[in-house]
Amino acid sequence: MKDTPSLSEKRKNEHIQICKTHMVESSGSHDWDQITLWPEAFPECDLNSIDTHQSFLNTRFSFPIFITGMTGGIKNGKEINNTIAKLAHKYNIPMGLGSQKMMLLNSEFSSFFDIKNTFSDIFLIGNIGAVSLNNGITPTHIIEKLIKPLKLNAFALHLNALQECIQPEGERNFSNLLKQIEQIVKQSPVPIIVKEVGSGINSRTLEKIIETGVSSVDVSGKGGTSWSVIEGLRSDENAQRLGELFRNWGFTTKHSLEDCINYTNKAKSNIELTATGGIRNGIHIAKAIALGAKMCGVGLPFFRAIVSPPQGMTPFEALENEFLFFIDSLKISMFCTGSKTVAELTGKYSQKGI
Ligand SMILES: Cc1cc2nc3c(=O)[nH]c(=O)nc-3n(C[C@H](O)[C@H](O)[C@H](O)COP(=O)(O)O)c2cc1C
Repeated sequence: MKDTPSLSEKRKNEHIQICKTHMVESSGSHDWDQITLWPEAFPECDLNSIDTHQSFLNTRFSFPIFITGMTGGIKNGKEINNTIAKLAHKYNIPMGLGSQKMMLLNSEFSSFFDIKNTFSDIFLIGNIGAVSLNNGITPTHIIEKLIKPLKLNAFALHLNALQECIQPEGERNFSNLLKQIEQIVKQSPVPIIVKEVGSGINSRTLEKIIETGVSSVDVSGKGGTSWSVIEGLRSDENAQRLGELFRNWGFTTKHSLEDCINYTNKAKSNIELTATGGIRNGIHIAKAIALGAKMCGVGLPFFRAIVSPPQGMTPFEALENEFLFFIDSLKISMFCTGSKTVAELTGKYSQKGI
């Protein structure tokens, strides 16, 4: 089945509906419980002066957290993106856009992604599936039609092999992508990121990705949103069965991060690793940073706050409320480990039982 703008729009709408109403998460977030942050009975600092700033891709952000690429390209998506952009602007954190493939299929969709028109100062990360490079989209399209006109600050290529297998209209030819990513890195005026979407990245894959010259890799492991389940729910009983079977496929975010950090330490690589997938509070963020992540990305909890705000709250108020829960729990984790800065969290953990 060939992907078209109307099919793509229908799919995005279905993703939103399913994420809003169904149990779409994989198990694995509890993996973070295997790590204990070192408790510090004498924090020797003031909670109010904890410094949460973090540098990523040569930019200084107020918190080590970004809103991971989610929606765009549909009417609802524009409202969601504007709400996310307002938060990213207010708190000086990076914002990821959802797949911009629709914009390349039909330029009328470009207004849905034109965040910089209103929020010129936010750090905006573009997004497209790497597999699109085998389906008519070229490095030049990405640079000339997405990065430059939308003034993007970085661009993420997502790897979603499992999702494409379950998706009825999925694109399943993943051959020769590394070479094409290398081409984009060579031509791009902004840093290129490679990300998974919920199955994690192992160290052997990381080694190959590093050779392409990308600036950052988001391991995006198991423990959060499962695209296998979501695509199954969009289709017939057989696809649902397959989607459910693969719900818990992959490395958890913790496992993936540890595997990748071991490799980067050994290889003395300075690629910036980020952790997304099942990050559900500030303790998870503190643990990921203690392991060696630069930043953490959050998707589903923020998405749900916006599309199903508690009674009496606007979507923005609900999003901000959820965001502050992450920030408060991060600051408490930093304080209670005696970490005055994000960098001071590094290495302050034990595996359970040690
Ligand atoms: C509603 C929704 C839409 C998403 N769309 C995209 C997308 O277009 N491109 C992408 O790379 N990832 C997309 N993702 C995946 C996220 O970026 C992230 O990798 C994944 O959701 C894991 O994080 P979480 O467990 O916090 O949701 C989407 C996630 C959600 C919840």
